[in-house]
Amino acid sequence: MGGAAPLLVARDLVKEYRRAAGGWGGRRRTTVHAVSGVSFAVARGSTLAVVGESGCGKTTTARMVARLERPTAGTVELGGVDVWAAGGDALRALRRRVGVVFQDPYGSLDPRMTVGEIVAEPLRVQRRCRRGGRERVQELLTLVGLDAEHGARHPHEFSGGQRQRIAIARALACEPDLLVLDEPVSALDASVRAGVLNLLADLRDALGLTYLFISHDLAVVRQIADRVAVMYLGRIVEEGTVDDVYARPAHPYTHALLSAAPEPDPRRERARRRVVLEGDVPSPETPPPGCRFHTRCPLAQEVCAREVPPLHGDGGRRVACHFPLEPGETLARRADALGRAIALGGGRGARDGGAAAGGTVAGDAGPGR
Ligand SMILES: Nc1ncnc2c1ncn2[C@@H]1O[C@H](COP(=O)(O)OP(=O)(O)O)[C@@H](O)[C@H]1O
Ligand code: SF4
Ligand SMILES: [Mg+2]
Repeated sequence: MGGAAPLLVARDLVKEYRRAAGGWGGRRRTTVHAVSGVSFAVARGSTLAVVGESGCGKTTTARMVARLERPTAGTVELGGVDVWAAGGDALRALRRRVGVVFQDPYGSLDPRMTVGEIVAEPLRVQRRCRRGGRERVQELLTLVGLDAEHGARHPHEFSGGQRQRIAIARALACEPDLLVLDEPVSALDASVRAGVLNLLADLRDALGLTYLFISHDLAVVRQIADRVAVMYLGRIVEEGTVDDVYARPAHPYTHALLSAAPEPDPRRERARRRVVLEGDVPSPETPPPGCRFHTRCPLAQEVCAREVPPLHGDGGRRVACHFPLEPGETLARRADALGRAIALGGGRGARDGGAAAGGTVAGDAGPGR
């Protein structure tokens, strides 16, 4: 993380939703443990990606950071200011400092407004924005690779990729420090996706932005992020630099996820063996005690069902596992040493229901979702 103070710090974030259970007139209420003690720090000018299967709490985490969802417990600090405790002028200043881009380029832009009105909306609402007006809108549209004159048109005249560019222009309107990007390229075709990712990387570097980047796609994360936090059932199980985590996953779940992602190098791709995890992700209404991954982990021991493994480590790498893998050690080899059977699938093209398929985390949004 270096010596400089991080721009964004999340501490022990918890989000629990109370939900009526038992159908018609049911009085029983259950608790959805969406996020259960998530902590991370993001250095200014860098990108932290949060990756994990559908329902593991990525969006809820992003919404708590962007001040769209109040945490049940825990804090979010931006530049040392507690975003949920701030009020008055401090809160207005904070609102300007955070921009948000959502997954759905169709639902997130009001179809009745012109593109110019959409991009100018934060300029109008946040009167503390330093610069406003038509020229600023034109400047923002040009910045995201659109025609300055596109401001007069409506969203339906644009493709999915162009709409995401409009959403990015809107998020940048008030010159924020932080962008919270929730699956910003997941709904886009692969050909369009690369262009939007390149744009995001260029904007980050040119404007000195900091990103919290939510994704279920390991290839996208590799392309855009400096660091990655892997989530499973409401908790971070591993966090570190992308290079380090991808090369030497220490958590069994991270190992299984990465084993399902195609390798860019054809030789390594041929040798790739996908770890097929048994069973389904448990319900967040009844998360397993101890390590939440223990019901599916090929390495689980008795202590795993009893004691929550703390997320700890040094050298910028944190792992929440009682028995983490050593650098270079594979999950299959460790399982073998324990006398456990482990199901392995083939590399590219094999589709036998593994932890994930095609480099994206199973069960999560593909194009159009
Ligand atoms: N408003 C809500 N009420 C009840 N449960 C919710 C609500 N929002 C999210 N959840 C639940 O919280 C869990 C985490 O959801 P989410 O953060 O959207 O996951 P992800 O973005 O990783 O797919 C899921 O089980 C989801 O169903
Ligand atoms: S703590 Fe135990 S169950 Fe959890 S990932 Fe590590 S070995 Fe598996
Ligand atoms: Mg989500």
